[in-house]
Amino acid sequence: MPVIRAERDDSSACLEALPPQAWPQGGDVHVWCIDLQAPAAASSQCLDEAELERARRFVHSDDARRYVRAHVALRAILGAYLGCEPARAAFVQEPQGKPRLVGPRAGLHFNLSHSKELALLALGTAAELGVDVEAVRPDLPGPDLAAAVLDPRELEQLAALADGAQAEPFVTCWTRKEACLKAVGLGLNLEPRKLHAGLEPQPMRLRIGARELELVSLGVPAGFRAALAVAGGIGRVMRFELDGAGVLAR
Ligand SMILES: CC(C)(COP(=O)(O)OP(=O)(O)OC[C@H]1O[C@@H](n2cnc3c(N)ncnc32)[C@H](O)[C@@H]1OP(=O)(O)O)[C@@H](O)C(=O)NCCC(=O)NCCS
Repeated sequence: MPVIRAERDDSSACLEALPPQAWPQGGDVHVWCIDLQAPAAASSQCLDEAELERARRFVHSDDARRYVRAHVALRAILGAYLGCEPARAAFVQEPQGKPRLVGPRAGLHFNLSHSKELALLALGTAAELGVDVEAVRPDLPGPDLAAAVLDPRELEQLAALADGAQAEPFVTCWTRKEACLKAVGLGLNLEPRKLHAGLEPQPMRLRIGARELELVSLGVPAGFRAALAVAGGIGRVMRFELDGAGVLAR
């Protein structure tokens, strides 16, 4: 079992297996921030055959390394919550590809996102939770992407900004929509431009079909934007770092 050090709001360290009472309570969500350049949290032998096969298919070795690091961290953290070896965390995929834990303590739900050297893992007791992190690229969005992602009101707000000032609000909005789509597990089966999530990082509630989601933007290191969406609502967002130096600002 790998040692997982975490610093929490109360600065108490969590070591190795977490007792069930350390699971997120009620609508609380635990968000783990994972530096994919840091040493791996466990051996890559914990990955299953499907993960190893996926890692082999990446064309660029850096992409394969990041994927492996993210999944090793995912398994190490899940193992600590579930009280099992990382390799024993078992998933199934929903029809649109969203992974879900199965097994005796399957009341824990998660969603993973990675971009460049940063991964976020959100854990909660609501099945419909989604997290998204994206690096801000100065060339974003470009007219075609903006039209595909933004609704008319967001497009108008973006157009009012100077060219060099568009990337951050666009990526903010992108992560907010993606977090919602990931929460309900739809991926791109629902067109992002049909949702209104706004260019600003303010908390909001929005509807997808019969579900009402609460959406918040998350504080992440400079150069990234991130968001979290949960059907029903979000209690406290508690930040953790894997083997890191502290707690991210809330
Ligand atoms: C998987 C998907 C839902 C998100 O892809 P992404 O943003 O590129 O990738 P992220 O790193 O945020 O998330 C990937 C993780 O989400 C999980 N995931 C996979 N399918 C999912 C789904 N349908 N719903 C929720 N989570 C899903 C997996 O854990 C996956 O991790 P893995 O690739 O290491 O196995 C993808 O289907 C998608 O919708 N891509 C659209 C990207 C886009 O162009 N968005 C426009 C802006 S709104």
